[in-house]
Amino acid sequence: MLKCRPLLSSVLLVGGAIALFFWTRPTANSAPPVAPPPAYGSCPPSADGIGKTFMGREISHVMGHPGIGWLERTTREKEEAPTKAIALLELAPDAVIADIGAGSGYYSFRIARLLPKGEVVAVDIQPEMLAFLEKESARLGVRNVRPHLGAVDDVKLPPASLDAALMVDAYHEFDHPAEMLASLRSALKSKGRIYLLEFRAEDENVPIKPHHKMTEVQARKEFEAAGFRFVVNKPDLPWQHLLVFEKP
Ligand SMILES: C[S@@+](CC[C@H](N)C(=O)[O-])C[C@H]1O[C@@H](n2cnc3c(N)ncnc32)[C@H](O)[C@@H]1O
Repeated sequence: MLKCRPLLSSVLLVGGAIALFFWTRPTANSAPPVAPPPAYGSCPPSADGIGKTFMGREISHVMGHPGIGWLERTTREKEEAPTKAIALLELAPDAVIADIGAGSGYYSFRIARLLPKGEVVAVDIQPEMLAFLEKESARLGVRNVRPHLGAVDDVKLPPASLDAALMVDAYHEFDHPAEMLASLRSALKSKGRIYLLEFRAEDENVPIKPHHKMTEVQARKEFEAAGFRFVVNKPDLPWQHLLVFEKP
């Protein structure tokens, strides 16, 4: 009996190590764990803000659906160069990309043309925006833009279902940014990319209200805290950052 004890403890030790290895081993689609997100704060609400802060930034008001006319303005190509921005995404023809905060689908429909075998999931929280998207799809005869109702704190898409996600002039108004990024992290495939377009707050010549702009430093702080790896800031657009992040 005495002789068995060392053997028994070795068996238990090896068994424990094997169990620990399989328990902690990342699977193909799992990414390293992320620390809990920083807490939200509050401040006296400014004219364009909601009085809720995230990592030192006051979150802005959501643009309501009566703003569709502004989103579809004819000067947008000159101001934002969306054609150039979309080319910079270098999407594969079969990519599945979510346009989060899609609004009227200004970017969704332009991207969909480049994805003959792919799809744009146009996510928004305003049913009126989704109704507009559906009408536009029918009017243009487009079959690969799928309107999708998200929640303020959840993109509500299946795990590992996206190759990429795009957010144009939208992230700064998400009132639960940490939860949105966590749900997006789950919805993206491993190595999936986020393309974040935000008006440059560093540039006072960009004629947009301060709460609707972001600095690169701020955006990196928030996305890196959510477990995304910063890849590059493409400096080619007239008014916006095009920040690229990757799910590890
Ligand atoms: C300023 S619009 C930009 C629309 C579009 N990306 C564009 O550039 O034409 C921002 C959109 O984000 C949407 N939005 C705000 N919070 C959201 C959230 N948590 N999830 C999805 N969409 C959201 C709003 O409803 C609005 O349609």
